[in-house]
Amino acid sequence: MSNFWQKLKKNNKPFFVLAPMDDVTDVVFRQLICTTAKPDVLFTEFTNVDGLNSKGQDKLMPRLLFEPNEHPIVAQIWGQNPENYFKTAQMLVEMGFDGIDINMGCPVSKVVRSGSCGGLIREPERAKEIILATREGAAEKIPVSVKTRIGDKEIATEEWIGFLLSLKLDALTVHGRTVKEQSKVPAHWDEIAKAVALRDKSQESSVNPDPDKVGTGLIGVKETVIIGNGDVISYQDGLVKAKTSGVDGIMIGRGVFQNIFVFDPAKTNADLSVQERMDLLTRHTQMFVARWGNTKNFNILKKFFKIYASDFEGASELRVNLMETKNLEEVESVIHNFNHG
Ligand SMILES: Cc1cc2nc3c(=O)[nH]c(=O)nc-3n(C[C@H](O)[C@H](O)[C@H](O)COP(=O)(O)O)c2cc1C
Repeated sequence: MSNFWQKLKKNNKPFFVLAPMDDVTDVVFRQLICTTAKPDVLFTEFTNVDGLNSKGQDKLMPRLLFEPNEHPIVAQIWGQNPENYFKTAQMLVEMGFDGIDINMGCPVSKVVRSGSCGGLIREPERAKEIILATREGAAEKIPVSVKTRIGDKEIATEEWIGFLLSLKLDALTVHGRTVKEQSKVPAHWDEIAKAVALRDKSQESSVNPDPDKVGTGLIGVKETVIIGNGDVISYQDGLVKAKTSGVDGIMIGRGVFQNIFVFDPAKTNADLSVQERMDLLTRHTQMFVARWGNTKNFNILKKFFKIYASDFEGASELRVNLMETKNLEEVESVIHNFNHG
């Protein structure tokens, strides 16, 4: 099987990735983004490997649903037990994912205290154990990557990112903040640039330039694909940040809430008429209800409403009314009243 990260890198222009976002980037939202402006790579929401290997598996499986038009699609995982990473990696290969990403950045205190996600920055040896277990489960069939931050309490790019690079990951997403900083300060893109420099100045030559060989740990440090993340608000902004930092790819998360076409170099929400925005909102709601029925809380959908109901006369009142809705029919009725009010 091939390593899509290396193929994207070889194009010699920055590629774009939709960030994993819990309760946002489920199959419904990814399907929507595939029809508005599809990025080069999609990630699932983070999914817990310990839960996946427990009686509660059924509850978590919907997080791993994807459709054929989403390739390349990466499953993001997190958890505690290396053995569960191993088993989950085997399962993800079977399911047809193109890559596996390990979350080593989530700053939620309960998760960090449990030693998972951002908590792994304090425990490099455990982080290494988890990477090796995942790699073993992936069995050279699909690439294994990590998404992390630049330190725990203090910026520690050289130590932490340097350590991860020494493990010869297929790809590494660097979110330019420490765990402690959460999202409270602007992302340190100078530190992301430092991560790229660390990779580039590595003395390791490429032991394995073959893009079809993956996850073997034989990929030289120089081969690790680096993706920068944090505060990218537009495609053009991404191009500038890629140029100044030297990253191979750009990951965008919250930017999709400002512009659902953020992965299209030439289009923004503002190019849509109000009617077109309402049509998109209706379609999104229909897709959510068709896929999830009553199995997902309708309120989860409401965080998307501001994408469509913003920046036109009456938008804030429309948003207030939409926030009161409880189902598709009520959303359609609010939109009807707005159009004919
Ligand atoms: C609602 C929400 C949920 C998130 N869930 C995840 C997640 O499941 N896994 C992960 O690695 N990062 C998660 N993140 C962090 C984002 O992937 C990204 O690193 C962060 O938002 C910074 O990028 P941005 O400035 O482009 O949004 C989440 C962020 C938000 C806002």
